[in-house]
Amino acid sequence: HPPTSQMEEISLLRRSDCRAKGGAPGFKVAILGAAGGIGQPLAMLVKMNPLVSLLHLYDVVNTPGVTADISHMNTGAVVRGFLGQPQLESALAGMDLIIIPAGVPRKPGMTRDDLFNINAGIVRTLCEGIAKCCPGAIVNLISNPVNSTVPIAAEVFKNAGTYNPKRLLGVTTLDVARANTFVAEVLGLDPREVNVPVVGGHAGVTILPLLSQVNPPCSFTPEEITYLTDRIQNGGTEVVEAKAGAGSATLSMAYAAAKFADACLRGMRGDAGIVECAYVASQVTELPFFASKVRLGRAGIEEMLPLGPLNQFERAGLEKAKKELAESIQKGISFVKK
Ligand code: NAD
Ligand code: LMR
Repeated sequence: HPPTSQMEEISLLRRSDCRAKGGAPGFKVAILGAAGGIGQPLAMLVKMNPLVSLLHLYDVVNTPGVTADISHMNTGAVVRGFLGQPQLESALAGMDLIIIPAGVPRKPGMTRDDLFNINAGIVRTLCEGIAKCCPGAIVNLISNPVNSTVPIAAEVFKNAGTYNPKRLLGVTTLDVARANTFVAEVLGLDPREVNVPVVGGHAGVTILPLLSQVNPPCSFTPEEITYLTDRIQNGGTEVVEAKAGAGSATLSMAYAAAKFADACLRGMRGDAGIVECAYVASQVTELPFFASKVRLGRAGIEEMLPLGPLNQFERAGLEKAKKELAESIQKGISFVKK
């Protein structure tokens, strides 16, 4: 038998040839932090995505085992593992989409901002690698505090001369998943049929569900609005406390990240009408970064949708969100500039 890596090459070439004949795209996706609590189930879900032909799994620990395990799934994508900083560049070369769940998670009593000191440096290093090895890739950033790590990534790309705001997206899909779930519970609906826009950012009061814009159209009592807003804003803390020191949301996050990555890939394929909420460079408010609905296409973000009409409760929430967001954005920018 030829060695495994040679077999993989042959298999990859054969499969891309097959896809080319069938007109189907095969995207190359890398997960950075792939051996972690989010990374492992996310790697499994991305391996199941028929739009993916090649999946690179990078981490500073344990990728050989995770890669061996996932590579036995008889789905289309070929999987390769990369371990440690010396292999980062090989992990990134030629990739179309990079998903980043690398970094430490919260423990009870911590805010997401308490993760800044460790995760800011991790995100900076990984983004320097992206700027060097795959500057045209779309980046889905999961590492917390997202409100600051996305500005950090933007600054790193600016310094490298590769920044394109259309290709950098902070993942807030879990906030939407939670909002859909909790609203569906209150209304007695199937959560798959509910769509709640969640705007602002990804931490506490910056998570702003627009309950006046729920689809299908519905109305809530003031008590329901208070309960839902509070539960959606503190969904992450609910999981951190339930896990009691063993980390934060991993499975629901892997589900949300896989869904968001799939939306990005469908946009890149040229599908029409792909709209998701994400934390991005924005002109929707006066802040340089803001989460809101974006339309995804071949080049990443193709259009930023307006916020739509907000009620008085939401307008007050927006003011609070903007105040905290402005500080988190500045903290991220200063980290790279200093
Ligand atoms: P985890 O500790 O289980 O896994 C993190 C992984 O990152 C580990 O395998 C670790 O080895 C790896 N890592 C550390 N430094 C690295 C580096 N320099 N390069 C590559 N990999 C590195 O944590 P987790 O539960 O998977 O959470 C990861 C991050 O995602 C945390 O910051 C968490 O707060 C965040 N998170 C974000 C959301 C969101 O909605 N955006 C949701 C849940 C968690
Ligand atoms: C979440 O919303 O679950 C994540 O941001 C993790 C956390 O720390 O809450």
